[in-house]
Amino acid sequence: MTGASSGIGQETARLFARAGWDCLAGVRSADARRAWIAEGTTDRAIARHVVPVTLDVTNEADRAGVVREVSARGGKLNALINAAGISSPGAFAFGDAESDREVIETNLLGPMALARNLVPALRDGANDASNPAGGSIIVNVASIAGIAPMPWQSTYHAAKFGFVGWSDAVGHELRHDGIHLVAVLPGTVRTPMLEKADHLLDASIRTLPRVAPKPYFRGLTRFRRSAQLAARFAATPNVVAKAIVDLASRKNPPARVIIGADAHVLRAVVAFLPHRFAMAVLGGVLS
Ligand SMILES: NC(=O)c1ccc[n+]([C@@H]2O[C@H](COP(=O)([O-])OP(=O)(O)OC[C@H]3O[C@@H](n4cnc5c(N)ncnc54)[C@H](OP(=O)(O)O)[C@@H]3O)[C@@H](O)[C@H]2O)c1
Repeated sequence: MTGASSGIGQETARLFARAGWDCLAGVRSADARRAWIAEGTTDRAIARHVVPVTLDVTNEADRAGVVREVSARGGKLNALINAAGISSPGAFAFGDAESDREVIETNLLGPMALARNLVPALRDGANDASNPAGGSIIVNVASIAGIAPMPWQSTYHAAKFGFVGWSDAVGHELRHDGIHLVAVLPGTVRTPMLEKADHLLDASIRTLPRVAPKPYFRGLTRFRRSAQLAARFAATPNVVAKAIVDLASRKNPPARVIIGADAHVLRAVVAFLPHRFAMAVLGGVLS
């Protein structure tokens, strides 16, 4: 499990533990490791089943450390949950390549590299006769942003479109290893990511250069307001976590799962409207 220090990843690790799964919970900081240990003092399932491990998905040494940890515990893995992610709202024209790289590495390249490193353990997990699901699974927590392109967070869309595409494509290959691939596409979920994104948007509006076309200010402001409104009706991380635990226990999980009313509406826009009209709807509302 990656991104287990907060939000969807943290809740999913909890639910796996309560369902009796042993879970390596990938976190980046010593504080997050301590938080899991503290939670274990009052929750026996956490103490018994959750082992916090240091994992920055963009760090090769951390990824290798996780492979060693899996190997030290018998070398078989039943599920990899890629939940780590960061968002990057703001105007593309005034962004920077360093931030683009961080978003793509965290949301796409890091999880891909981790998955490749763990294929042998997942293959062994799939072949384990005691595995009731009859196969292992990689769950990629993508986003509805991976199929519905909207303005003002284009790098995040680039990463999530890539993540969904990679998940579907590599799923064709890894089924020969007994490994199912599932992309989970939630709409808005009430996690710390929303507050972080709101701060980034606020900063990008306040620092918009004078040369920015006037519609930029209006569009970013409208986007921020609509994100704040969506936050009020957001799904809880528990809903997403339950779906992930359920997927990991299924014999034939679907390749994509969409979660949340907002996500279903956006999916309908891109699935049923001609592309030109879909783009007019998605761009028109927020730009
Ligand atoms: N919240 C939403 O509305 C929403 C909607 C659709 C999809 N998603 C996706 O859901 C996933 C989980 O997000 P969330 O909403 O639960 O947000 P969150 O509470 O901010 O959690 C993000 C997690 O990712 C970790 N992380 C960030 N960079 C990392 C890196 N380089 N290596 C390893 N871990 C890293 C964070 O660790 P630190 O605590 O160390 O920063 C944190 O544990 C993300 O992929 C996000 O894109 C979220």
